[in-house]
Amino acid sequence: MKPKHKMIAAILTVALLATAGLAQSDDDDGTPWFQSWFDKAKPGIDPVGSQRYVEECGSCHFPYQPGLLPAPSWEKIMGSLDDHFGENAELDEGDRKTIQNYLLNNAAGRVNYGLSNKLMAAQRERPLPLRITEMRYFAYEHSEIPKELVQENPKVRSFSNCDSCHQRAKRGLYDEHDVRIPGFGRWDD
Ligand code: HEC
Ligand code: HEC
Repeated sequence: MKPKHKMIAAILTVALLATAGLAQSDDDDGTPWFQSWFDKAKPGIDPVGSQRYVEECGSCHFPYQPGLLPAPSWEKIMGSLDDHFGENAELDEGDRKTIQNYLLNNAAGRVNYGLSNKLMAAQRERPLPLRITEMRYFAYEHSEIPKELVQENPKVRSFSNCDSCHQRAKRGLYDEHDVRIPGFGRWDD
C-alpha cells in the first residue's frame, strides 16, 4: 500500500469503528440487535416488477406480489401448475423457470418490506400454506369481515380478489384506510 492509501485506509477504519460504536450504543437501551432489520424495512410490499409475471399470472386473478408468500409456498405452486386450485395454469418450461426465479428472489422472508415481515413473524413455526389467504396474519386481519360483504357479495365473492376491496393493491399498498367494499362503501366510514 502507498503511504497515501494507508492514510485513507486508516481514516476509513476510524470512521467505521465510530459508526459501529454508535450502532452499539443503540443496543444499550435494550433494543435487540435484529431490531435494525425491521427499522430499515420499507412500508407495505414491493409492487410487481415483472411484466412476464403480470401477463402469465394476472390473467385469471390479481397478480399477487411475491412478498405476500414465503419461498417454499411459491415453489410448491410453481411445481403443480397443472393442478392449480382446480385449474390448469401450465406454462412452457422457460416461462415457468423465469417466473419461479422472480417469485423466489422476492418472496416473503427474503425481502425487507413491512408487510412481508409481518406475514412471516405471525406464521412463526406453523406450516406454510399454499394460499396467502391461509397465512395466519391474513386470517387474523380479515377475521371480522362478515360473509355478506365477501362470499355473499357478487362483486367480491372471494378473499383471493384483493383488488376488489384494496384500492391500491396493485401498488402494494394494503392500508385499511384504502379499503372500499364494492356495494357497501369505505371500510373506515
Ligand atoms: C387459468 C387461470 C389461472 C391462472 C393462469 C393462474 N391462476 Fe392462480 N388461481 C386460480 C384460481 C381459480 C385460484 C383460486 C381462487 C379462489 O379460491 O378464489 C387461484 C389462486 C391462486 C393463489 C392463492 C390465492 C389465495 O387465495 O391466497 C395464488 C398464490 C396463485 N393463484 C398464484 C398464481 C401464479 C403464481 C400464477 C402464474 C404461474 C397463477 N396463479 C396463474 C387460477 C389461475
Ligand atoms: C372483502 C374485501 C377484502 C378483500 C377481498 C381483501 N381484503 Fe384485506 N382487508 C380488508 C379490510 C376491511 C381490512 C381491514 C380489517 C380491519 O381493520 O379489521 C383489510 C386488511 C388487510 C391488511 C392489513 C392492513 C393494515 O393496515 O394493517 C392486509 C395486509 C390486507 N388486508 C391484505 C389483503 C390481501 C393481500 C388480499 C388478497 C389476498 C386482501 N387483503 C383481500 C378487506 C379485504
